[in-house]
Amino acid sequence: MEIIFYHPTFDTAWWLKALAKAIPGANVREWKAGDNAHADYALVWHPPVEMLAGRKLKAVFALGAGVDSILSKLKAHPEMLDTSIPLFRLEDTGMGLQMQEYAVSQVLHWFRRFDDYQALKSQAKWQPLQEYTRDEFTIGIMGAGVLGAKVAESLQAWGFPLRCWSRTRKSWPGVESFAGTEELSAFLSQTRVLINLLPNTAETVGIINAGLLNQLQDGAYVLNLARGVHLNEDDLLASLNSGKLKGAMLDVYSREPLPEDSPLWKHSRVAMTPHIAAVTRPAEAVDYISRTILNLESGKAVTGQVDRVRGY
Ligand SMILES: NC(=O)c1ccc[n+]([C@@H]2O[C@H](COP(=O)([O-])OP(=O)(O)OC[C@H]3O[C@@H](n4cnc5c(N)ncnc54)[C@H](OP(=O)(O)O)[C@@H]3O)[C@@H](O)[C@H]2O)c1
Repeated sequence: MEIIFYHPTFDTAWWLKALAKAIPGANVREWKAGDNAHADYALVWHPPVEMLAGRKLKAVFALGAGVDSILSKLKAHPEMLDTSIPLFRLEDTGMGLQMQEYAVSQVLHWFRRFDDYQALKSQAKWQPLQEYTRDEFTIGIMGAGVLGAKVAESLQAWGFPLRCWSRTRKSWPGVESFAGTEELSAFLSQTRVLINLLPNTAETVGIINAGLLNQLQDGAYVLNLARGVHLNEDDLLASLNSGKLKGAMLDVYSREPLPEDSPLWKHSRVAMTPHIAAVTRPAEAVDYISRTILNLESGKAVTGQVDRVRGY
C-alpha cells in the first residue's frame, strides 16, 4: 500500500515513521513536487492541486477537523479530486478534550465574574459582587457535532442549563435540542453564553451578526471556537459597546494572523487566543487514520467521511 503525505508545517519525518509503524506493509512517503508515482491514500493539509489531481486514490484524509480550506480549493479546482474519492477528516482525535478545557474554563471565568473582578482590580477596588446563578446562565452550543457534544458533556458536569442548535435534532439527555433555521430564534432567546462550534459552510458564514446577537439574553457572552468567518467582528464590537453583550472570547478571526490595527486587540471585554483552541494531536490522529485505512481495506464500517455537497 502506497501513502503520500503533505503538511506545510508538521514534523513530516515523525508522521512518516508513526504511520508506517501503525499500518503494517504500508510504504509512506512525503509528497514532493513532481511525484506522480502511484498512491492509494493521501494525507494532506493545504495540498497543492498537482499533488491530488488525476490520481485514483482510495481516500484522502484531511489532517484537521475542519475541511473548509480543502473544499474551497476544490471549488476553484474541481479537477483536484474526483467526486468519487472519499474525503475524511479528523474526528475528535484529542481535540474534544482541548475544546472541553477551553469552554469550561471560560464559562466558569464569566460565571464567577472574574472578568468584573479583573476590572475592579485595575481600579484597586475591593468590592464583592452579586453572584450569578446557574438558572440565569443557560449555555447555547451552535453546532452539535463531535466537538459540540464533548463540550456539552463537560459543561453538564458543572450543572449549567444546556441547549444545542444543529441541522438535525439531537436527543442528548439533559440538553434541549433546536434544529434548523426555523428554531434558531427560539434557541437564541434563552441563551446567555453562546458557544460556536459550527463548520464553515455557505450556510454558516456570517451567521453571528447583529441580528443574531440581538436575540441573545441581555448581558450575554460569545465564545467563538470554530471559524472567524462565522462572526461579523464589527457587529460584535457594536453589541459589546451598546451593553447588549457583556464579553467575548475569540480563538478565530476574519483574518489570521489578526492584523495589528484590529480594534479587537484593544477592547477591554474581548479576550483572545491565536487559533489554538484545539490542535491536531499527532498520536491520536495517526491512530484514527491508521484504524480507518485498515477498516477500509477490510471492508468494515468507518466514520469521519465528509459530505462534500453539505460542506462538512
Ligand atoms: N479553533 C480551533 O482550534 C478548532 C479546532 C477544531 C475544529 N474547529 C472547528 O470546529 C468545527 C466543528 O467541528 P466538529 O468536529 O464538531 O464538526 P461536526 O462533527 O461536523 O459538527 C458540525 C455540527 O454543526 C452542525 N451544522 C452544520 N451546518 C449547520 C447549519 N447550517 N445549521 C445548523 N447546524 C449546522 C451539524 O449539524 P448536524 O449534526 O445536524 O449535521 C453538526 O452538529 C470544525 O468544522 C472547525 O471549523 C476549530
